[in-house]
Amino acid sequence: MKIISFIILGSFVLAAGLALAQAPPDLATQGKKVYEENCAPCHRSNGEGLPVKFPALHKNPYVLGDPRPVIATVLNGRKGEMGTMPAWKDKLDDGQIAAVVSYVRNAWTNKAPEVAPAMVKEVRGK
Ligand code: HEC
Repeated sequence: MKIISFIILGSFVLAAGLALAQAPPDLATQGKKVYEENCAPCHRSNGEGLPVKFPALHKNPYVLGDPRPVIATVLNGRKGEMGTMPAWKDKLDDGQIAAVVSYVRNAWTNKAPEVAPAMVKEVRGK
């Protein structure tokens, strides 16, 4: 009888695991919306930006590297050689910034680990 209950319990655990795997909270999908509404006017929907004015995010080693500086750039904006990027810390919450950074790290042919809202919170606090 013990074996049977193990099998039954086991199938429940398996079923719960499958249900979770099928419905991942897909940050990158959520991030597409945030991107189109806030970032695409400059960096464009295809992530290529505009020569001289707005940097491309597609195939950009900075975007694909350490996620913390990317998060900090989005939170605080940046004034540089190409121009000024506005700060987003008062317009987007931690979840939205995590989503949009995850999106740009995985959109087009980009591929880099997603970032969690907790990391945005940590960088915001610094
Ligand atoms: C008004 C135009 C504008 C908007 C809107 C904008 N950016 Fe930018 N972004 C810029 C400019 C200009 C730079 C380059 C600043 C510089 O010269 O250092 C930049 C730089 C960046 C960088 C750093 C790229 C690198 O190679 O260093 C990232 C990442 C970035 N933007 C992401 C975003 C995200 C995500 C959003 C939307 C939440 C966004 N930007 C919205 C204009 C914009």
